Amino acid sequence: MSLIEKLQWRAAVKQFDSSKKISAEQLDNLLSAVQLAPTSLGLQSFKVILVQDAETREKLRAAGYNQAQITDSAALFVFASLTNLDEQFGKSFIDLVASVRNIDRASLEGYEQMVLGTLSSRTEEQKLEWSHKQAYIALGVLLSAAADSGIDAAPMEGFDAAKFDEILGLKEKGLTTTVIAAVGFRSEDDQYSKMTKVRRSKEELFLHV
Ligand SMILES: Cc1cc2nc3c(=O)[nH]c(=O)nc-3n(C[C@H](O)[C@H](O)[C@H](O)COP(=O)(O)O)c2cc1C
Repeated sequence: MSLIEKLQWRAAVKQFDSSKKISAEQLDNLLSAVQLAPTSLGLQSFKVILVQDAETREKLRAAGYNQAQITDSAALFVFASLTNLDEQFGKSFIDLVASVRNIDRASLEGYEQMVLGTLSSRTEEQKLEWSHKQAYIALGVLLSAAADSGIDAAPMEGFDAAKFDEILGLKEKGLTTTVIAAVGFRSEDDQYSKMTKVRRSKEELFLHV
């Protein structure tokens, strides 16, 4: 299948086959894709919590409008944004760049000033909004990577973020829930994935200048 055919195949599955487990290799492949997602300035100001524990997922389902995908998928990906993008966060990122590329940290002075300047010029609210956007890019990469591997991934915004934060103890970790994705394999009974995709025409969607 071509990538476009795989994207035609993918669907926001509502009914997962809970008997189908995802292998460690398949899961790790998806994690690699999320890890490689691009982010603004490369900061990756979010974390992804992988929830497979059944009891926790029952609680999350109650906080997610009782959506069955939360408990019946093989794994739940919770994208959570960092709430404290302070100077230390910016500096530690520059440390990472210097160490990964094995370059003198002093040569990154300009880059560091840009990162720190960007962080200090924004309010806490603006930085959180910014982080949420980065997490959504990672979600998009996850959806495409899953489709590429024949794995279902259902993106979801229908949940109470404050309750998710509480159940997962995210506040103490300096995180807050952005968006989630249920990952696994569709049930043969899933009707949604059998429906024709509804998309606006290219004429409506794209403007050529
Ligand atoms: C960010 C985001 C949040 C979504 N939230 C939910 C949700 O909470 N529950 C749900 O059943 N579907 C949810 N959807 C699925 C969309 O309704 C679905 O992607 C859209 O109708 C297109 O269908 P398709 O993904 O199968 O092509 C969400 C999709 C996105 C991208």
